[in-house]
Amino acid sequence: MATTDKKGDARSCKAGTASKNDSYFGGKGQDGVFHTIINQIPPCDDYWELFAGNASIYRKLKYKPKRCFLVEKYHSQAKRLANNLGVPCFGFDFVMVNVLNGSMYKDGTYVVWGSAFDVLEIMRREYIDKHNSFFFIDPPYMLGTRTSTNRYKHELADEEHQQLLDWLITFKNAKMAITTYPNETYQQKLQQWRMVDYKSVTRSGEVRVEHLYMNYPSPQLLQDPSYFGANYREREAYNKQQRNWLRKFQNMPPAQQQIILYKLYNHFNDTYTNA
Ligand SMILES: C[S@@+](CC[C@H](N)C(=O)[O-])C[C@H]1O[C@@H](n2cnc3c(N)ncnc32)[C@H](O)[C@@H]1O
Repeated sequence: MATTDKKGDARSCKAGTASKNDSYFGGKGQDGVFHTIINQIPPCDDYWELFAGNASIYRKLKYKPKRCFLVEKYHSQAKRLANNLGVPCFGFDFVMVNVLNGSMYKDGTYVVWGSAFDVLEIMRREYIDKHNSFFFIDPPYMLGTRTSTNRYKHELADEEHQQLLDWLITFKNAKMAITTYPNETYQQKLQQWRMVDYKSVTRSGEVRVEHLYMNYPSPQLLQDPSYFGANYREREAYNKQQRNWLRKFQNMPPAQQQIILYKLYNHFNDTYTNA
């Protein structure tokens, strides 16, 4: 059975409101939504956002992974996203040859114009199924779970959702997280995956519960810890603590700051990275 992470449950804070940059249909930029998702993203070098749309989660990440690949099938949307972010837009084959397998381009963000299915194809696994890779996957909602009549230029049929899940569960190394409205297909196919839920508000103002399924344990460290906290109140308390600590630190002589940094660094490394 898919398990509901209790901590994640606590993070299903009050459904947030959409701001102007979050108005993309099905976008994940609402308060409470992006907080929950980013607080589940482990440290990674390669970040994949499949079904990128407006790439709300990528945009909200304050600490970006070294390489980010935002995959969108709708050509105009891919171009718009690339222009808006000021990053290149390439087809997946070009990315595979020149970025994943080559030395022409290295770190950076790439909008990948193409189908998520082309990326996930078994032949390409060696390039993408890596321990240090993370996939955030936000496919169009299954048609039967929607209350709205809005449609994307490219939708997924139920059989394509099933195919997607069948492929995802065969990945061996990469960490993956996928969102959906609650439904039997995901519940059944991803029964071995961990699940947290959160609330989102549709364009018509309806509050809906969404599920985020993950194939990895709850991460101790995060790619971007800036939003850490189970809810708004907890995040505010942590922010206040950070400001207080920083103020005290800044008032110390430089050499005292230096030795404290060394000791903190060693403690952190011994505890979390050498374990
Ligand atoms: C739910 S929206 C993504 C919203 C996005 N997470 C955000 O926050 O802005 C789904 C997107 O997937 C795109 N899409 C549909 N089928 C696709 C496919 N096979 N491969 C890649 N993108 C696809 C749609 O064009 C749409 O932009």
